[in-house]
Amino acid sequence: MSGDCLKKMAAWPKDSADLIFADPPYNIGFKYDKYDDNREHEDYVKWTNNWIDACARLLKPSGSLYILIGDEYAAETRLHLRKLQDEKQLVFRNWIIWHYTFGQNCKLKFNRSHAHLFYCVGSAATKIKAADKITKNPPFTFNRDSVVVPSARQTTYNDARANPKGKLPDDTWYLRPQTAEGDYFREGEDTWYQSRLAGTFKERQGWHPCQLPEALLERIIKVSSNEGDLVFDPFAGSGTTLAAAAKLNRDWLGCELSKDYAKRALQRIKHVAKTGKTMKVDCIDKGIQRGKPKKKAEPHRSKKGADGKLVWSGKV
Ligand SMILES: C[S@@+](CC[C@H](N)C(=O)[O-])C[C@H]1O[C@@H](n2cnc3c(N)ncnc32)[C@H](O)[C@@H]1O
Repeated sequence: MSGDCLKKMAAWPKDSADLIFADPPYNIGFKYDKYDDNREHEDYVKWTNNWIDACARLLKPSGSLYILIGDEYAAETRLHLRKLQDEKQLVFRNWIIWHYTFGQNCKLKFNRSHAHLFYCVGSAATKIKAADKITKNPPFTFNRDSVVVPSARQTTYNDARANPKGKLPDDTWYLRPQTAEGDYFREGEDTWYQSRLAGTFKERQGWHPCQLPEALLERIIKVSSNEGDLVFDPFAGSGTTLAAAAKLNRDWLGCELSKDYAKRALQRIKHVAKTGKTMKVDCIDKGIQRGKPKKKAEPHRSKKGADGKLVWSGKV
């Protein structure tokens, strides 16, 4: 539904969501339809703390909360989650790094290829003192087997002790090509870390500046919720979380400040709910011409150097 998530959340009953996934604007000057992504530092941090508090209120004691954030505000966000843990409102479980490919190309620094994903669970876990009791009888949903990956013990060492079901993923996430649906990887590319959605990808709707891949959300929704649970996204954007929730037969609820984004996101979610498949859009429909990768001109090679070895004589 369209509107300001802070206002909407204040009107909803506490302890109502099983899973909350939040991917807020990162205050890095992105161009959104209605939101100004250039706030004063103090103002942005205060706003972030406010919406996290609102999410903690909505989360069931047995629920899970995930927050995706960039480098700029990861530290401040983590500190606020620590404060909520001290107040026994939630328990921090993992600081996950999503390592993606197709990061923006930088000119005089290293290209960024990661985002921070904070994973917390609701207040029921604050009542359990011993870590082993949490593992044996977790007071939150954690569907281990739905997200396991083959372990090195299985694939490389042929180790009889290997769990035949596989192992849990590490806390650096790169989803494998065999788990990525659709055409993420163009011919000749050997990188297989879960990519950001580039404009040419069919999954990319083309009208929202920072759409996430559904595969990322599918992992979160599978492991931290069950069919029929309520999944909530306060910053729905193009509707990725809710589309993935619909595909996995969860109930879904979202807020989006822009009426236009909310309307288009709803179309996307309805498509997924009806067909069970990711909505795909061809490049031509997005106004993108997809040609062959450009070949760089080969530097000219002179015949032989004085010592008889080949030398480069062209400009590289
Ligand atoms: C980073 S984007 C989310 C992208 C989304 N995860 C996706 O895959 O499409 C953040 C979104 O939050 C929206 N937004 C900003 N302030 C908001 C608010 N107060 N309430 C609800 N939505 C808001 C923006 O319009 C933007 O679409």
